[in-house]
Amino acid sequence: MEGMVTRVASSSETRSGFVFAKRVPISFFDGRLGQNVRVKRIRMGLVGAGFVGPHHVDAVRRVAGAEVIGVAGSTAASAKAKAEALGIERSYGRYEDLINDPDIQVVHNTTPNHLHFAVNAAAIAAGKHIISDKPLGMNAAEAKHLLDLATAAGVFHGVTFNYRGNPLVQHARQAIADGQIGEPRFIHGHYLQDWLLKDEDYSWRLEPDKGGPTSALGDIGSHWCDIAEHVTGRRITHVLADITTAVPVRRGRPMQLEDLASALLRFDNGAKGSFSVGQICAGHKNDLVLEVNGAAKSMRWRQEAQNELWIGERDVPSQILQKDPSLLNAAGRSLAILPGGHQEGWSDAFAGLIRAMYGHIAEWRGPSTPLSPMVATFADGYRANCLVDAVLASARAGGVWTEVAR
Ligand SMILES: NC(=O)c1ccc[n+]([C@@H]2O[C@H](COP(=O)([O-])OP(=O)(O)OC[C@H]3O[C@@H](n4cnc5c(N)ncnc54)[C@H](O)[C@@H]3O)[C@@H](O)[C@H]2O)c1
Repeated sequence: MEGMVTRVASSSETRSGFVFAKRVPISFFDGRLGQNVRVKRIRMGLVGAGFVGPHHVDAVRRVAGAEVIGVAGSTAASAKAKAEALGIERSYGRYEDLINDPDIQVVHNTTPNHLHFAVNAAAIAAGKHIISDKPLGMNAAEAKHLLDLATAAGVFHGVTFNYRGNPLVQHARQAIADGQIGEPRFIHGHYLQDWLLKDEDYSWRLEPDKGGPTSALGDIGSHWCDIAEHVTGRRITHVLADITTAVPVRRGRPMQLEDLASALLRFDNGAKGSFSVGQICAGHKNDLVLEVNGAAKSMRWRQEAQNELWIGERDVPSQILQKDPSLLNAAGRSLAILPGGHQEGWSDAFAGLIRAMYGHIAEWRGPSTPLSPMVATFADGYRANCLVDAVLASARAGGVWTEVAR
């Protein structure tokens, strides 16, 4: 799915938001006019300010040269209340009005999954750059449609696969690409949470018409699949899956979607793999783990201890690499905003990805614009939807090896 945008070599990853900060006014591609215009600041509007929306606002506010000017909610009253709480000037009761505000150039979509298509498609039709949260579509067909629309419109399109923004994730990606652990042979891990452990726990994510045909897989499995392929540079070709609804009744209502899933994986380089996702695993808060066992060494990154990267050795003691910019390669160093010993967290990694996206938006020249490999586009969103669809298809067929659509 890399064909839609041009990727630049890893040396360009040293670009940082701080370089971008000096470029004001900004030469900016306006999709509606089909030409470059100069603006003093890139203005963002947010659709859907629930849990993750305010983190998009926080991340954009950390980009010098960008500003958050509007928020749309499901009603005018809720949008106004969110705007006041977040210190945002304009509010809209309909997302169409935010999208049609001529002062807004970038739309962030953090609505529930069933609205991703409509909001993203409307923003693209208006010539706005679009940053959507994941999963991009309710299924791969929706995501492919969005990718095609965004590509044809020539706008920037991004998906917040935010774990890519962690310095040690990028360090691991570059180290593996440079051959430092040898050819990956076993790629495995999990993404476990506990917020749906109890019968009374509930979310729109459990309702097929709002969350889509999957709960755990679409919500957190999409992140795991993205990071596994992104960090290793290898693609999953086949899956064999088993899915379960461990809590079958919540608040007296029967549940249709899985809250626990596991899959065996085959990769295009011959590597084998496996992953599990679960929302019912007590004690695991946001426990994303990726381990890669190469022909020479291993690497393991764990989101809940995100400032450390384990490097497994056979003949000398294994190491823990700390997130210290002076110890990281160029890809990792470009994202580290603090010196060693100063812990960075989930929001910092999120902001790192958004900073890179806005760097591209500031220099946007249409789909041929070179993009940093760390930036996730709608092509990557579509890819994650394809992987989730394949896992679901395998499980529904009774656990058979299933090819992932290309
Ligand atoms: N990247 C990440 O790490 C991450 C984390 C959490 C959620 N997400 C994704 O972000 C999306 C939102 O998740 P959330 O946890 O913030 O959900 P949420 O339910 O907390 O927030 C969704 C918000 O959208 C609003 N909304 C609903 N209909 C709307 C409409 N028609 N117009 C405008 N606003 C509307 C709701 O009122 C709510 O405020 C989901 O797709 C989810 O998968 C991503």
